[in-house]
Amino acid sequence: MIKQTILVTGGAGYIGSHTVVQLINEGYDVVIADDLSNSREEVLDSIQTITGVKPLFFKADLCDKTLVNELFSKFKIDAIIHFAAKKLVGESVEQPLMYYQTNLNSLMNIIEAAMQNNVLKFVFSSSCSVYGQPDTLPVTEDTPLMPAESPYGNTKKISEDILRDVSRVNPMHVVVLRYFNPVGAHPSGLIGEYPLNPPSNLMPVITQVAAGKRDSLSVFGTDYSTPDGTCIRDYIHVVDLANAHLASLQFAAQSKGDSSYETFNVGTGTGISVLQMIKTFEKVNGVSVNHKLVDRRPGDVEKVFGSTVKANKMLNWNAELGLEEMVSSAWKWEKSLSHTKSTI
Ligand code: NAD
Ligand code: WQD
Repeated sequence: MIKQTILVTGGAGYIGSHTVVQLINEGYDVVIADDLSNSREEVLDSIQTITGVKPLFFKADLCDKTLVNELFSKFKIDAIIHFAAKKLVGESVEQPLMYYQTNLNSLMNIIEAAMQNNVLKFVFSSSCSVYGQPDTLPVTEDTPLMPAESPYGNTKKISEDILRDVSRVNPMHVVVLRYFNPVGAHPSGLIGEYPLNPPSNLMPVITQVAAGKRDSLSVFGTDYSTPDGTCIRDYIHVVDLANAHLASLQFAAQSKGDSSYETFNVGTGTGISVLQMIKTFEKVNGVSVNHKLVDRRPGDVEKVFGSTVKANKMLNWNAELGLEEMVSSAWKWEKSLSHTKSTI
């Protein structure tokens, strides 16, 4: 069988690198396109250590149309997984134009090049942030979308609109994945979340406090209408999330008709509170996480978790890794970072 070549934009990043590992393990050839604006080239060596294969790498800012055209002329691509984007909610509020320019121009450049080069299968990274605070839980793909809470969230909403409109009039098979909260790391401890900016998401803050890199964790809000008063999210292991992309490629390949557009929630369907996460981390890893209870963080939704029935049925995909694997792999990664790599 001829090997398929998958273009993974943003493949040096957190979710992208885990997906590249799963793709290589499943026999795909991979080309990563990334400008390394939030990742490091050394991840390519780690991917090689895990899989035995070093993925091809094309360093490019995908907002640069000339470079995108060069990318497509250099490699014969069969399908695209488009991760590349800026993702900091707070930064997007401070610099909205940069977020609209980066996330939308890079997407449009890639779609245009895909159409010109007859690449018909396209998987896109969207986010549960498009739901805002839904009226009913769990959210399904049919739950009405709320106005975005941030320019970042709005870029995901607009990106979905762009892809849907383009797929209506072009022979493209588009799969949009709305991720809930990705956490954890590869079981090898060789790749994980390794951004250039100090992280602000819950899990990396927990691991940094446990490792002594930060004094304490602020639990944002304890007066929510939830069992322990803290916010509830649907955390998903990054390896399960990576596998959803492989299932999406197969789904796109088997899609009937000239074009298709499908949206899927990718989570576990289970809501976990902030305090539950901290306690599980402490218990499973045998370490303490110094934390203090503080006021709510502006913009946080109280609780959100998704129904994954559609992905389970249509993608034939299920989340297999539980909270224990999430917290243990995140801790293993943090320890390997502390021992072998520069700190962030
Ligand atoms: P990440 O920052 O680790 O990875 C994104 C990668 O894209 C980085 O390697 C970065 O260098 C690259 N990149 C950014 N702008 C680029 C550009 N203009 N040209 C080329 N490369 C560029 O982020 P991640 O957590 O792996 O997220 C991947 C995707 O998933 C993003 O689209 C993000 O919005 C989406 N997402 C992430 C989460 C999350 O919590 N991590 C949740 C929902 C959706
Ligand atoms: C989770 C919970 C915090 C840090 C964001 C984006 C979303 C998506 C995922 C990309 C919340 C609490 C956190 C801390 C805390 N990204 N928390 N102390 O806010 O659900 O989603 O990342 O698409 O778009 O908005 O994730 O990990 O920041 O927070 O108490 O130091 O942990 O209040 O309840 P969030 P998070």
